Amino acid sequence: MTHSVAVVLIALAILLLLYAVIIAYLIISNRQQQRLTTMNQHDCLIIFATQSGQAENMAQQTAQQLQAVGQKVSLVDIQYLTRQQLYQAKQVLWCVSTYGDGDAPDTARLALKHILSQPNLDLSHQRYAILALGDQRYSHFCGFGQLLNQHLQQHQAQALFEMVCVDHLKPQDLARWTQHLEQLTQQKLMGIAQHSAWTSFTLKKRMCLNHGSQGYPIYQIQLAYDQALTWSSGDILEIQCGNAAVNIQQFLAAQSQTISDDVLASLQFKNLSQFPPQLPNEALKDWIERFDDLAMREYSIASIPAQGILELVVRQEKTATGLGLGSGWLTEHAALGQRLHAKIRSNPSFHLKDAGQALILIGNGTGIAGLVAHLAQRQQWGAQQNWLIFGEREQQFDHLYQQQIELWQAQGFLPVVDYAFSRDQAEKIYVQHILQQKSVQLLSWVEAGAAIYVCGSLQGMAQEVEQSLLNILGAEQLQQLKVQGRYQRDIY
Ligand SMILES: Cc1cc2nc3c(=O)[nH]c(=O)nc-3n(C[C@H](O)[C@H](O)[C@H](O)COP(=O)(O)OP(=O)(O)OC[C@H]3O[C@@H](n4cnc5c(N)ncnc54)[C@H](O)[C@@H]3O)c2cc1C
Ligand SMILES: Cc1cc2nc3c(=O)[nH]c(=O)nc-3n(C[C@H](O)[C@H](O)[C@H](O)COP(=O)(O)O)c2cc1C
Repeated sequence: MTHSVAVVLIALAILLLLYAVIIAYLIISNRQQQRLTTMNQHDCLIIFATQSGQAENMAQQTAQQLQAVGQKVSLVDIQYLTRQQLYQAKQVLWCVSTYGDGDAPDTARLALKHILSQPNLDLSHQRYAILALGDQRYSHFCGFGQLLNQHLQQHQAQALFEMVCVDHLKPQDLARWTQHLEQLTQQKLMGIAQHSAWTSFTLKKRMCLNHGSQGYPIYQIQLAYDQALTWSSGDILEIQCGNAAVNIQQFLAAQSQTISDDVLASLQFKNLSQFPPQLPNEALKDWIERFDDLAMREYSIASIPAQGILELVVRQEKTATGLGLGSGWLTEHAALGQRLHAKIRSNPSFHLKDAGQALILIGNGTGIAGLVAHLAQRQQWGAQQNWLIFGEREQQFDHLYQQQIELWQAQGFLPVVDYAFSRDQAEKIYVQHILQQKSVQLLSWVEAGAAIYVCGSLQGMAQEVEQSLLNILGAEQLQQLKVQGRYQRDIY
């Protein structure tokens, strides 16, 4: 081979190599481009199904994050979802919670029946992901999320990634959702969190409302606040639980070092029953900072901002090891004057809609909280068409908010009040029985446009009330009330 042929061959080889490198680069960048545009190609529909506002909050945060990195998203409450809207979407992110015993939230029942359960829905062109909120203490963990997943698979929709199940809003579970979205968008996202910052309240008053009751004590808890706060009747307070003094003392007794006041203060809200081991040479302050915070608990707010105080009605829970975490903190362990950390959570599905509408308020036990908040709001609006149906055990000991209710009656804001004190007569009477007894009146109120609001226990009350409403109004009319937002529940 001559020298010039060799030069030509080497030049060709270099060219070939360059060509191969360019082709490889184009293929890789094309693949990356494909990945990058996975979420860009189409608008993304975010559908939420919530009972008490958390899934809605997560859906809103998800939407904000995606919008911040240039995605086009639209957000829809499942109760307003149409079959066409779902069908047209190429990508859907579902944020759903589970209620009852593995059931769908109230707002999702119609979509479940009329859209998702329909056999002829073809979603083979659609990709989806599910953020399922739940609580592992329930036997059907994220039951509705699982059911939704099954329906979507049956309709041939393709999962973008495996369903993210969230236990009690644990940050590590929520972080998995963000990680998946980051992979999809190839963008760094801010991450979704349980909520906004804590607000500081002062425990102002604590009063037992049912001395002598056969049931566990129920306390009225009043929280004062300094900053301007607002909320709607029907909203929920999330409380950061704290430790009993005795638990803090036990922890301190086990430490050999002296503890400064600021470290002592930080112990108040830390989980002192389960914490990581202290590292060699780790300062006490740094170690305690690594402890998890105690859990939060939710309580229906029993007052409106115009009253200038945030009020709760809390039943003291007894557990195998003492008092319940949240109820024990509020009803016994937190000292009067103590600073508490809490957040107001909007609960739109239990808000009042229309001042002109008549209102039937049904509840039991601590459910009185949500009902008196609505009555206070109705009084402020001058709305007099209110009917209260309330149940507890004995009139003598369990007549919660008796004075206030009598005052409203005297002022004309409560023309009809019915009580079901279950243990005041040989045969037990509950609120569902009052509904049956007064079915004619119930029908006429509903036909005149009244809305029905239910607050209190799911088991034993809300389920039975729903059965009575079904018997009296029939499935179709009850369904209509739900669609019209005239049957709303804050139940737990
Ligand atoms: C939307 C909403 C509104 C609410 N409003 C009110 C209200 O107005 N008033 C009110 O009193 N309550 C209300 N609750 C209930 C409240 O949030 C608490 O659940 C209640 O106070 C009990 O909590 P606790 O921390 O005191 O008890 P916990 O410490 O949670 O114990 C409660 C029970 O659960 C059991 N338990 C605890 N941990 C576990 C576990 N890991 N596995 C199995 N079992 C366990 C305990 O043995 C005990 O029997 C509401 C709940 C919701 C969701
Ligand atoms: C009365 C009640 C019943 C619940 N039932 C279940 C259940 O069966 N399975 C589950 O995983 N979570 C269950 N949960 C937990 C909720 O799904 C969880 O608190 C969720 O974060 C609520 O979200 P939302 O506010 O969007 O409705 C239940 C909660 C309540 C208050």
